[in-house]
Amino acid sequence: MDIFERLQNNRGPLGQYSQVGQGYFFFPKLEGEISNRMTFRGKDMLVWSVNNYLGLANHPEVRETDANAAAEYGLSLPMGARIMSGNSSYHEQLESELSAFVGKEDTVLLNYGYQGCASAIDALLDRNDVAVYDSESHACIIDGVRMHHGKRFVFKHNDIDSLKVQLERATRMVEKTNGGILVITEGVFGMAGDQGLIKEIVELKKQYNFRLFVDDAHGIGTMGATGAGTGEAQGVQDGIDVYFGTFAKSFATIGAFISSEENVIEYLRYNTRSQVFAKSLPMPLVVGALKRLEMIRDQPEHRNNLWKVVDALQSGLRANGFNLGRTNSPVTPVFLEGGPYEAANIILDLRENYKIFCSMVIYPVVPKDTIMLRLIPTGAHTIEDVEYTIETFKVVKQKLADGKYAKDKIVPA
Ligand SMILES: Cc1ncc(COP(=O)(O)O)c(C=O)c1O
Repeated sequence: MDIFERLQNNRGPLGQYSQVGQGYFFFPKLEGEISNRMTFRGKDMLVWSVNNYLGLANHPEVRETDANAAAEYGLSLPMGARIMSGNSSYHEQLESELSAFVGKEDTVLLNYGYQGCASAIDALLDRNDVAVYDSESHACIIDGVRMHHGKRFVFKHNDIDSLKVQLERATRMVEKTNGGILVITEGVFGMAGDQGLIKEIVELKKQYNFRLFVDDAHGIGTMGATGAGTGEAQGVQDGIDVYFGTFAKSFATIGAFISSEENVIEYLRYNTRSQVFAKSLPMPLVVGALKRLEMIRDQPEHRNNLWKVVDALQSGLRANGFNLGRTNSPVTPVFLEGGPYEAANIILDLRENYKIFCSMVIYPVVPKDTIMLRLIPTGAHTIEDVEYTIETFKVVKQKLADGKYAKDKIVPA
């Protein structure tokens, strides 16, 4: 079989829909400045699908810092991997400020969250170790444990009994191999918005010998009294042995970091292959991240704005009978009953007739005949946005119940 021929015939789980969805459901272009309102196919939309949690993306202070840093340093500096020729005082300053912010001894920057997370998991483990990870983990965790040469055991999502079973298995295994156990989970699960049971997992350290790795991509900046993340929110930041955060969400830029004990970070600096063998983050991104960190740290109003919108949206939707599942974070899933045609028609109706842009999630990510509309509230939204959205969702729910979104009734665009 020719590889290209096979690709032609099997487009993959999402690619199979490219003919019907490209440019609309997949790869849509949201244009204009990042904010609560953006342009989609020439139409002004109320946008609920951008992870600009704190509204920093377009904040004038952020824009000014980014522009000045780009003018001063250009986008090339520094060249090369950090280990060779790509280090700078700004990179080191950002690492030390992040360490202080999340309460860990040391930090290493990563160029991209996804690659860095997967690569760090790979670096932390050797073939004698066992990775024990949550079944709903993000792809960067899944791919990290796929690279691992030793055993990997998965536990049912946020199920402590299931985790215990896997820890028993892992413990028996490492007694033979003389390896260690790394439990991996998330601070906030980005799809359904439920927090990982970090506190309960940390508690298990009394019974089992393991280290805990937490991907807090959605928690950094949004969760906890100071925005230091889900560990802070649950009062167990110290129990997290390896803390991962990305700049791709509340920081509204690109890049990521891992914080831990000095000894571990020093090891990761020399052994995380995605960093050792890749060019370091350009200076404007580092200077820009420093500015964002300063704002997250010193301007709590951004987090307060976010939570005002989150509380209004979630309590308003719940009061109107919507099922938001288990969210206890800003991520706001709205569960409805229906198949893929209904889901597509709802999205069409929301975008074309109500000018609301949100994402949808269907089977296999959620069970068959479940539609998840996923709303990401941000500090840039207003209470009017929330009220309009709740009113619209009430209408949409009624139309769904009345069969208006059935397969043969495509909503006119
Ligand atoms: C839970 C989680 N981990 C990791 C990542 C990857 O981060 P990045 O976008 O910085 O590559 C994401 C999404 O972006 C995420 O949602």
